[in-house]
Amino acid sequence: MLTRKLNNGIKIPVLGLGTYRLARTDEDSYRAVRTALDAGYRHIDTAAFYFNEKPIGRAIRDSGISREEIFVTTKLWGSDILSNHIQEAFETSMSNLGLDYLDLYLVHWPVKGKVASTWHAMEKIHQSGKVKSIGLSNHLVHHMEELLREATIVPVVNQIELHPYLTQKEVVDYCNQKNIIVQSWSPLGGSKIPLMQEDTLKEIGRKYDKSPAQVVLRWNVDRGFVVIPKSSNMQRQKENIAIFDFQLTAEDIALIDKLNKDYRTGIHPDKISF
Ligand code: A2P
Repeated sequence: MLTRKLNNGIKIPVLGLGTYRLARTDEDSYRAVRTALDAGYRHIDTAAFYFNEKPIGRAIRDSGISREEIFVTTKLWGSDILSNHIQEAFETSMSNLGLDYLDLYLVHWPVKGKVASTWHAMEKIHQSGKVKSIGLSNHLVHHMEELLREATIVPVVNQIELHPYLTQKEVVDYCNQKNIIVQSWSPLGGSKIPLMQEDTLKEIGRKYDKSPAQVVLRWNVDRGFVVIPKSSNMQRQKENIAIFDFQLTAEDIALIDKLNKDYRTGIHPDKISF
């Protein structure tokens, strides 16, 4: 699996399995992570808020793959920030996952007025040695500016909603400037938008004998992002990882960039409340 170097020198596989609403039951979540690992995924992204850390941790532990080969991410939820239970929330996630260490711990959403203090708590967790890297999710430029004024550690990633209908130019440019890797959630647009029906993606796909989903995922990799498509279906998991035998041209990338409509399927980061 192709990797990228984070700003602390640690490598991250450029494609991972997203797990928000991955499956209805714990057993199905477990099965989906096992099939993804069997298919070659080595990066699994979860969050306390997804309420699936337990089956995901179990799937990772049962896989027979050595822990160091799998990049595991989870995230700190906003209500734990508001109630000043950051350390406890981290310990609960670790206990749910049943792992000795985490590869990446993210602040799931910025909490108004608490962006910098949350980051200090994250830095303390990092100092404990149980988390290799810390980063952000859903942070806008103004949140990152606020945070970086006081930060000792520069976040390694910012995981944001990003797909061809929401290319997030401003956040991406800022992250590139600060050496923060952009991670794309809902890269296929989730189930709310008909992104997979886009003619541009179909046409580009025909050139390489690839599906629209594979074109979008490769667009992420070629733009330097880390991407976490979600699928509970083994065939689609395999399809989504089969993107390392072709590359888009600069022209293809520009055509896909042009599909942007600034269309969010999720909430705006300034509007979330906990
Ligand atoms: P499923 O789990 O049945 O495969 P996103 O990661 O953008 O949130 O999108 C995930 C959604 O897209 C899921 O509903 C998933 O359904 C579906 N999906 C995942 N991979 C593909 C694919 N290769 N082609 C079409 N739909 C896909």
